[in-house]
Amino acid sequence: MSDGDAELEARLAAQEEFEPPAGFVEQANVSDPDIYGQFEENWPNCWRAAAELLDWYEEYEQVLDDSNPPFYKWFTDGKLNVSDNCLDRHLDERGDEAAIEWVGEPVDEDNVTYTYEELHREVNEFAAALLDMGVGEDDVVTMYMPMIPQLPIAMLACARIGAPHSVVFAGFSADALATRMNSADSEYLVTCDGYYRRGDPLDHLAKANEGLDGVEHDVEGVVVAERLMDGDGFGHDLADNQHAYADLVADQAGAEVDPVERDAEDMLFLMYTSGTTGKPKGVKHTTAGYLAWAAWTSQAVLDIKPEDTYFCSADIGWITGHSYIVYGPLALGTTTMMYEGTPDYPERDRLWEIVEEYEATQLYTAPTAIRAFMKWGAEFPERHDLSSLRLLGTVGEPINPRAWKWYYQHIGDEECPVVDTWWQTETGGMMITGLPGVKKMKPGSAGPPLPGLDVRIVDTKGEEVKAGRAGYLTVQKPWPGMLRTLYKNDERFIQEYWAEYSDTDSSDPDDWIYFPEDGAKIDDEGYITVLGRVDDVLNVSGHRLGTMEIESAIVGVDGVAEAAVVGGDHEIKGEAVYAYVILEDGYEGDEEMRGRIVEGVEDAIGPIARPEQVIFTPELPKTRSGKIMRRLLEQIANEEELGDTTTLRNPEIVEDIQQQVQSD
Ligand code: PRX
Repeated sequence: MSDGDAELEARLAAQEEFEPPAGFVEQANVSDPDIYGQFEENWPNCWRAAAELLDWYEEYEQVLDDSNPPFYKWFTDGKLNVSDNCLDRHLDERGDEAAIEWVGEPVDEDNVTYTYEELHREVNEFAAALLDMGVGEDDVVTMYMPMIPQLPIAMLACARIGAPHSVVFAGFSADALATRMNSADSEYLVTCDGYYRRGDPLDHLAKANEGLDGVEHDVEGVVVAERLMDGDGFGHDLADNQHAYADLVADQAGAEVDPVERDAEDMLFLMYTSGTTGKPKGVKHTTAGYLAWAAWTSQAVLDIKPEDTYFCSADIGWITGHSYIVYGPLALGTTTMMYEGTPDYPERDRLWEIVEEYEATQLYTAPTAIRAFMKWGAEFPERHDLSSLRLLGTVGEPINPRAWKWYYQHIGDEECPVVDTWWQTETGGMMITGLPGVKKMKPGSAGPPLPGLDVRIVDTKGEEVKAGRAGYLTVQKPWPGMLRTLYKNDERFIQEYWAEYSDTDSSDPDDWIYFPEDGAKIDDEGYITVLGRVDDVLNVSGHRLGTMEIESAIVGVDGVAEAAVVGGDHEIKGEAVYAYVILEDGYEGDEEMRGRIVEGVEDAIGPIARPEQVIFTPELPKTRSGKIMRRLLEQIANEEELGDTTTLRNPEIVEDIQQQVQSD
């Protein structure tokens, strides 16, 4: 490192605030600081600004109907279609421009560009194929697909015909697919033969078929996209109800399907996410509010303009990919990138290679990836010209100031604002983050809430806490992108998100407060630092996993009597899964058992939930009332000083467990 570099690093390390770069502010979509005051004064009508980004068949009558909280309705009686908004309306001006740039993993394979015209054509053809297969309006179509263009095509085709989709992350297991199809009563599946990861073809259809075996109702139709190249196939035969994607669209060549008029509040999609119980929750998002939110935040926060080449490295199987690879960017008529693979294959400069080649203008990624980039070293980004980048973003978990500054310096060359965006599957889109053309940045803090949002940090009684104190994050007014309910489970919707701080007997919307189950603190300037989940949900590499789901997978393994799962700190992943396991008599806590437990978790959920450590113990530390002391288990995983153990029924067990963790 030269003296100049060292000086720069020292300056950055000490600096706690960063003004938005002037060059960025000059051209930003939003740069007027008055927006905050204006939105507050004009709430809820301020959200007309989001609705105006969309094309409507019929204008809405009311911005917000809050007569039956927490079942809010936005843009009531408006009629529109999401596929029309993401495709048709751009054809005149941007038909020949790229809508999707797709980069496959094998470097010797050709990348694929879909212009708006081409994407529109294939979405129409696939929509016609779905109709032909019998998919009707409001039938839930499940998609179990990796990062291939057929995934957004299938999503948009569903939106076109008014069939909600439920996308299941391709890295989830067969069991996870079956659970989600059963829960959503979904009779249709779109999947693929396989895909590439770190140089190997993966047999995805085998997993999909295994999942289909677990579906309890009749499955009417399955579509299989062929992603693998010649010679990499697994010799699959398609069953009677399975159709090759390529054949279906070929049969429908040139077909046009009129987009159905959907009501503003009609369901656009379901997305399953983890909660405190063992059963994933089907988060329901609607047509107008969700799309307006995805589009408005894409414009105001990601600063997307039609001529951009915007790159989000998330997977479409998660909400980030839904809102900020597919819907937000396409609603704005820009070029959105999709890439298959991992950031370290074939080399650790994969992302930088793509940014350079496509002259990407924004990059939106996760802190876990940034921490890995940091560990690999600045030499990898330095090999490439990244000067096309104008804005950087992060999402999914808190970003530590060191990683933030590394990103700002080595990727953004101190010329790109970094937006640290806090939000959730349930919120539909971004909620807390500074508008990059307006607000200064404070590394480690997500920033102030977006204009028009009422976010407060409260104590257990719901009273606002003082600046600097830790408390609970709450959102005290509704917003257009919010989830409307949990699929077929209004009761759980209220229990999970509202019961904590609301007067659930009241019909006054002021008495209803949304609780995202995160801890946070706020500073004197209204900047919020999110501290992490306060429920039994882990955040592993930005992926949300329920401890109960993992525990029930472990208890399902032969010989396991009881299990407790907690998150331990991890340098790259943020959190890692630590499993404390009690075996039944006659079973050994050996390598074989450990292997079976890991396999059990991978089968039930997927490799993302794989335990970092499995710790066998004859007992779990429990309070006198029989509750497992999870906090203690976390402290043990992190090799931290333990708090008071005298309230335990079995304090002697603690030392045993500690020794095991340390020796592993
Ligand atoms: O704990 C928060 C964390 O991720 C949770 C939401 O996870 P999920 O629904 O999977 O959505 C992830 C992508 C939006 C939140 O409850 N989280 C998300 N973004 C941040 C964050 N924590 C801190 N800072 C963030 N920027």
